Amino acid sequence: MEVAGPSFLLLILLLLAPLSVHSTPPPYLSPAIFAADYDDMLESFRIFVYGARRTFKFKSEAESLFLASLLGSPFVTENPSEAHLFFVPFDGDLSERSVARVVRDIRADLPYWNRTLGADHFYASCDGIGFGSDRNLLELKKNSVQLSCFPGSGGRFVPHKDVALLPAGVAPAGEGEPRGLSSNETIEHLAYARLGAIKDPGLVHRLGGDPGLLIESEPSDRETFERRLAMSEFCLFDYGGDVSWIGDAMRFGCVPVVITDRPIQDLPLIDVLRWQEMAVFVGSGGGAEGVKRALRGMARERVERMRGSCVAASRHFAWNRPPQPLDAFHMVVYQLWLRRHTIRYARRDWS
Ligand SMILES: *[C@@H]1O[C@H](CO)[C@@H](O)[C@H](O)[C@H]1NC(C)=O
Ligand SMILES: *[C@@H]1O[C@H](CO)[C@@H](O)[C@H](O)[C@H]1NC(C)=O
Repeated sequence: MEVAGPSFLLLILLLLAPLSVHSTPPPYLSPAIFAADYDDMLESFRIFVYGARRTFKFKSEAESLFLASLLGSPFVTENPSEAHLFFVPFDGDLSERSVARVVRDIRADLPYWNRTLGADHFYASCDGIGFGSDRNLLELKKNSVQLSCFPGSGGRFVPHKDVALLPAGVAPAGEGEPRGLSSNETIEHLAYARLGAIKDPGLVHRLGGDPGLLIESEPSDRETFERRLAMSEFCLFDYGGDVSWIGDAMRFGCVPVVITDRPIQDLPLIDVLRWQEMAVFVGSGGGAEGVKRALRGMARERVERMRGSCVAASRHFAWNRPPQPLDAFHMVVYQLWLRRHTIRYARRDWS
């Protein structure tokens, strides 16, 4: 890999530094590596799409947006011999048997699958596919990168190999600039929650009695919703509930609080962003009191830093049409780029 000079991207990263008075470190695990890798990706990444002329019916908007954005992007190549990765699209409602047939066909028609047994291939499946016994399905599941929805359904996400798609969001994609509070606004609520985002009705009920918490089913309109986000310190999510507005929350500096009883392995951008600096993870064991105690116990400066990190990272959550630099589409492609050197299962031919 070439050593990147002072790049266009580093400039962008500097500009991205939050505008607030609180100095916030960049929200990336490794800002320098991200900048250089992202630049390399823009320069060189090529993806071959099987059946690119067909239309596919996916289960989630994120999958559809991904394929549409990909087909309109410079990453697509019609020449498979220059591709780094191969995309195997299929309809969201296909049975596992039919998916196996898709793999069998591309294996028979073109030499690329056999070369790596699928390790340089990827596919999109909102719910993820299981480990079937069929050879084609097994290779797809074990070797290829799965793009699936967040949060995933149990056991179908393989950490470090698979990629969680960023949720397609409530906001009309890309609308508005990231913003925090303006100087004449003040925090009104410790935390904000939408009923649909919390699965446990008992927890909602007990949280609801607290004047510091605002819980509602649906905000009356977009403007009200944005004001709620901007004027709350924390936004509550239940892992497994509706997380589609997590990017909106972050854009307005509302720090996501994710209620979960086990480590989350399929967080979007888990190998790019410093989630520990942008979100709070609390167990449900302590109930509503436990959640409130965790939030009230946090130091002011830490919360301000987290709000800054959220705003800085939020552009990576926006699905724009057409795609914009560093947005959700580009970040999914970036994570695929990071996986392009997966182990190749060389097939030995002794004959
Ligand atoms: C790939 O390998 C399978 C056997 O594992 C074989 O049947 C198939 O013809 C091969 N594909 C190509 C394009 O050579
Ligand atoms: C804050 O100021 C802006 C203009 O600077 C104004 O549009 C907005 O209504 C004000 N908000 C409040 C809560 O007073």
